[in-house]
Amino acid sequence: MYDIIEKKRDGQALTTEEINYFINSYTNGEIPDYQVSALLMAIYFQDMNNEERAQITKAMVESGDQIDLSDIAGIKVDKHSTGGVGDTTTLILAPLVASVGVPVAKMSGRGLGHTGGTIDKLEAVPGFHVEINNNEFIDLVNKNKVAVVGQSGNLTPADKKLYGLRDVTATVNSIPLIASSIMSKKIASGADAIVLDVKTGAGAFMKELKDAKALAEAMVTIGNKVGRNTMAVISDMSQPLGNAIGNALEVHEAIQTLQGNGPDDLTELCLTLGSQMVVLANKAETLEEARLKLQDNLNNGKALEQFKVFLKSQGGDTTVVDHPDSLPQATYKVELPAKTSGSVANIIADDIGTAAMMLGAGRATKESTIDLAVGIVLHKKIGDTVDAGEPLLTIHSNSEEVEEVKEKLYKSISITKEAVEAPTLIYDTVT
Ligand code: URA
Ligand code: CA
Repeated sequence: MYDIIEKKRDGQALTTEEINYFINSYTNGEIPDYQVSALLMAIYFQDMNNEERAQITKAMVESGDQIDLSDIAGIKVDKHSTGGVGDTTTLILAPLVASVGVPVAKMSGRGLGHTGGTIDKLEAVPGFHVEINNNEFIDLVNKNKVAVVGQSGNLTPADKKLYGLRDVTATVNSIPLIASSIMSKKIASGADAIVLDVKTGAGAFMKELKDAKALAEAMVTIGNKVGRNTMAVISDMSQPLGNAIGNALEVHEAIQTLQGNGPDDLTELCLTLGSQMVVLANKAETLEEARLKLQDNLNNGKALEQFKVFLKSQGGDTTVVDHPDSLPQATYKVELPAKTSGSVANIIADDIGTAAMMLGAGRATKESTIDLAVGIVLHKKIGDTVDAGEPLLTIHSNSEEVEEVKEKLYKSISITKEAVEAPTLIYDTVT
């Protein structure tokens, strides 16, 4: 291990054997944290070439279970977002692309953050559950084209251990380490092809476009090198996506979007990512053809019908689709009036997420419980004009005391006298 650290410290590339040795021995507890910490810091400063990046990803994939989806007919395409505020795309994309014949075998998590993960959101639908075994999961995808299951316990243990160490040694923020960490989990989950949504802006992991682009390129290169057709879209996360931030609120927003009545930005991002998924799954020859198919199924009700079939097959009460009032509702709905007239210049995604968290929409620690009903619904987005007194948003709270949340929200939204352009939604695609 000393020699490997020294080699990377001096800027040399590690061999496949060296990478496998360090990942396997560390996973098995045979190398102390202090040596791996030193190697991580050397990687942070010296980087890894594309070959090393692919090798470390493979080694992490092989450190634990790998999901075998080969009993599902067709090309399985997965989507992964690097995370943002109010990102409801998975709830929409899963039934939407399934409705044009793309098999969606989704492994999802709960996770920490401003709101719950995809599974928490879906659990706002009474009765919905993800406690299905592997065979049931595969049967459901073959029958209905879409199912969601919780993450297996022993996926990429090397990544879990390394991430824990990176977190306390200031080595999280490294492109080769982030890219291999994310890709190892996606590859171990068994998809044949992967569409990545790499976010940029205030609410994103990568705040700067150039960093988001470097991460996207790194992940796409790794995916293609290990034999999974991979592409990335770089999308905006300066303000929250769509209007709803909160678990049941986002389910409601997903239903509206599947009915063709969703917010413009959320709908557009779903059509962009969805078209890429449909093409990678060989269900359309061009992005234009794919988009038309998806748009048709939003208009003709097939995407919504697919959502009902999906919910029902996992125990969910489908009446929520036609009667969203039967989703969990917060006791208090408090509007936040604009203090001045003008154009909305900024809605800082991160801070809106923190406000949703203060209301109880997300988990701060693994042990926290989530309030599925609470959250925020924006009525204005960047570029919209607003009159003084007009509501900027509605707070959905189960506590009468929302003064602190209001204060946080006022600080995260700015209004200016000048006209403001809406931010670009899609910055780039990387193939
Ligand atoms: N998300 C991950 O899964 N891994 C990282 O390293 C960073 C963000
Ligand atoms: Ca949203």
